[in-house]
Amino acid sequence: MQEEPKTILRTKFEEEVHQGLTDFPKHLSSKYFYDELGDKLFQDIMNMPEYYLTNAEHNIFEAHKAEISELFREGNEKFKLIELGAGDGRKTKILLAYLTKTKADFKYQPIDISQNVLNQLEESINHELPDVHIEPLQGTYFEVLNRINIENGTKKVILFLGSNIGNLLHHQAIDFLKHVCDFMNDDDLLFIGFDQKKNPQTVLNAYNDASGITSDFNKNILARINRELRANFDLDKFVHWEVYDPETGTAKSYLVSKERQSVFISNLNLQIEFEPWETIHTEISQKYDDKIVSWLAQESRLQIVGKFSDPKQQFKNYVFKKQIL
Ligand code: AVI
Repeated sequence: MQEEPKTILRTKFEEEVHQGLTDFPKHLSSKYFYDELGDKLFQDIMNMPEYYLTNAEHNIFEAHKAEISELFREGNEKFKLIELGAGDGRKTKILLAYLTKTKADFKYQPIDISQNVLNQLEESINHELPDVHIEPLQGTYFEVLNRINIENGTKKVILFLGSNIGNLLHHQAIDFLKHVCDFMNDDDLLFIGFDQKKNPQTVLNAYNDASGITSDFNKNILARINRELRANFDLDKFVHWEVYDPETGTAKSYLVSKERQSVFISNLNLQIEFEPWETIHTEISQKYDDKIVSWLAQESRLQIVGKFSDPKQQFKNYVFKKQIL
């Protein structure tokens, strides 16, 4: 590995790519999967038959929309429905439609880093659910929560769906939950999707689909480095590999180098060497059970006040409040 000593590292992306690919073992953060192409590939993943998570959570929303809405509006109190990382809002629209139909007093505030995602969501909500008061907020979750928390004391219901929390290690999830908890008042609710432990083969199939979409999604991180940092990764020289440990509930994604090879990243003026079968760890997708979720809540000063499951118990949505001290 040769590197010019005076390379100036600019963006966070450049910094983290440099750090991850010069570390041993090599790693890259899954948050960098999501450029325009990555967003599109993730949409395709959510439509794959193997990716059971989407339908399972969708079924929970369809089956329990009345109870969930009742919890949110509790005695018809006005509230803000804040969604962290809204995506296409497919599942949320089930609740939005029900809340609107039953004349709940709320406004919907989806938060996303991508203005493009928010514009598309706003357009589709205006078209499909014109009575919903939507106020899209662009930025990182905590930046925006900071901004809107200065407003009045209206009750907040915060949604974090799709088991997005599973892309965090436990200690990161606790930091994240503690941080969200800091923004919550006693009456506020936090509603989170947690993918559950299940037949290990079902998990493996979800992250190693026959059509190769997940492989393209994983490799898009290399394609993105090629595009944005002027690198020369040959995607065909890497294989997508998934492992799942049923004891810990952790699914891990890797990109494995099929041969000895060198890659040059022009913007970092950095040459990376790969041994045959050397790995880049790119993502974790944690699976949970009630015990783990209770432990995470306890560690984060939250209490579980509700729980909804699909009939096959593949996925659960938990409702949290701040612990009363
Ligand atoms: C966004 N996140 C919850 C997905 C997951 O299941 O970990 C990302 C994903 N990675 C591969 N397939 C889907």
